[in-house]
Amino acid sequence: MLQINNLNKSYGNKHILKNLNFNILKNETNVIIGPSGSGKTTLLRSLNYLERVDSGIMHFNKKNIDLGQYNKADISYVRSKSAFVFQNFNLFLNKKVIDNVALGLILNKKLNKQQAYDEAKKALDKVGMKDHLDAYPMSLSGGQQQRVAIARAIALKPDVIFFDEPTSALDPKRVSYVAAIIKDLSANSITMLIVTHEIDFAKKVADKIIFMEDGEIVETGTTEQIFYEAKEIKTRQFLSHIYYANSDYVI
Ligand SMILES: Nc1ncnc2c1ncn2[C@@H]1O[C@H](COP(=O)(O)OP(=O)(O)OP(=O)(O)O)[C@@H](O)[C@H]1O
Ligand SMILES: [Mg+2]
Repeated sequence: MLQINNLNKSYGNKHILKNLNFNILKNETNVIIGPSGSGKTTLLRSLNYLERVDSGIMHFNKKNIDLGQYNKADISYVRSKSAFVFQNFNLFLNKKVIDNVALGLILNKKLNKQQAYDEAKKALDKVGMKDHLDAYPMSLSGGQQQRVAIARAIALKPDVIFFDEPTSALDPKRVSYVAAIIKDLSANSITMLIVTHEIDFAKKVADKIIFMEDGEIVETGTTEQIFYEAKEIKTRQFLSHIYYANSDYVI
């Protein structure tokens, strides 16, 4: 449902994304892991036109989109069928929880006010936030704010949701709650592409892992294949480094 071919991006003379190719199937949860600076965020942002790329073709819902061409119709097509969940939630702090979720439905989906608020309530219920409709984001924990951000994304009923490190601003005990919500979304047939540093979280939610290093996709595979039978030495080295750095893991 989302296939990327020959995606390249440079900042100045620095080649950041190096001829990336991958394919995401419908209803699959794909997780991108890799060292800091490997280009994970840049990739995710490029797929939603938050970054301009040098070249690359996106096949999205049977439509072929040239990411290297700035085309307003393509941008609005991609954005209308995808949603983005950011590391730092990006909620409007001066708006209540329910307004944060309803706003996109009114502006982007052109729902009337009644429909938008009904849909927003349903989405907030799905993430366990229906008791906080009138709260302001700053009165909520990081985990709760992230749940509102996820509700805002799912309310739009996108074909794919991109997440950039959805758990990294949360304290560890809240990570598993957000992981459970994401797991629940995948059980409800939502296609997701998630960047994370947290291997435990990746293992919980992923159908497929994409390992990136230095702007390249080194290896992709199922959770089993990557974590227990990685073919590439670079993948093994990255994982052993993480295991070593985190004493909770036993190899
Ligand atoms: N606006 C920018 N201008 C110039 N270089 C940039 C810019 N944004 C990112 N880069 C560079 O692109 C490379 C990839 O950055 P990116 O943020 O995508 O990495 P990442 O894998 O998401 O890292 P992290 O795990 O730390 O979030 C890095 O070398 C970074 O310095
Ligand atoms: Mg990043």
